Amino acid sequence: MRPIRLGVLASGRGSNLQAIIAAIEANKLDATIAVVVSNKQDAVALERAQRHGIKGIFLNPKSVVGEPDPRMAYDQKILEVLIEHDIQLVLLAGYMKIVTSVLIDAYRWRMMNIHPSLLPSFPGLNAQQQALDAGVKVSGCTVHFVTEGVDEGPIILQASVPVNESDTVASLSARILEQEHQLFPRAVQLFAEGRLSVEGKKAKRLENAS
Ligand code: GRF
Repeated sequence: MRPIRLGVLASGRGSNLQAIIAAIEANKLDATIAVVVSNKQDAVALERAQRHGIKGIFLNPKSVVGEPDPRMAYDQKILEVLIEHDIQLVLLAGYMKIVTSVLIDAYRWRMMNIHPSLLPSFPGLNAQQQALDAGVKVSGCTVHFVTEGVDEGPIILQASVPVNESDTVASLSARILEQEHQLFPRAVQLFAEGRLSVEGKKAKRLENAS
């Protein structure tokens, strides 16, 4: 089986990107990262890509200022990069921009996001703080397909962690992050094996590889 070609969009430290790289290097993931794209020039994710011989591209959001719809124009630029690199699956790995229909339509059920809560609880920013504020006793992370609603698409995999009385955002985030690093590569591997399908609002896991 040929490894699937991944395109990763990342804005920050890129620890999830690193987990994907590690899974590939350990032969646990039948994939190759063809390109990493960032909207932040100083994203650590770009450094990580470089360190592993992966092409990293900074696309400056300022380059679309003045366009009739800058967000869509920006996504169009990303799309061009993804097509140019023959990308089969797009991963949002700490990508801090809301993607538009330009990318969502082109990569319907072929774009995944990782979010640090058990969706549908606590979508959007500061999910760990939201969990602490709500006093939940369990939280976790979710990998889902990206749709128009922020953090709303079909859920592929989830992992839970306990929330302790003494938790801070930092301690809870660290506990969740450990799970994120396991979960994202697993979700990508399911995709690579052709074992994911979407029916209505639900993502389903097929038992047999296609
Ligand atoms: C993670 O917590 C992820 O769930 C969220 O943004 C964070 C990214 O972290 N979407 P990193 O850049 O992968 O280290």
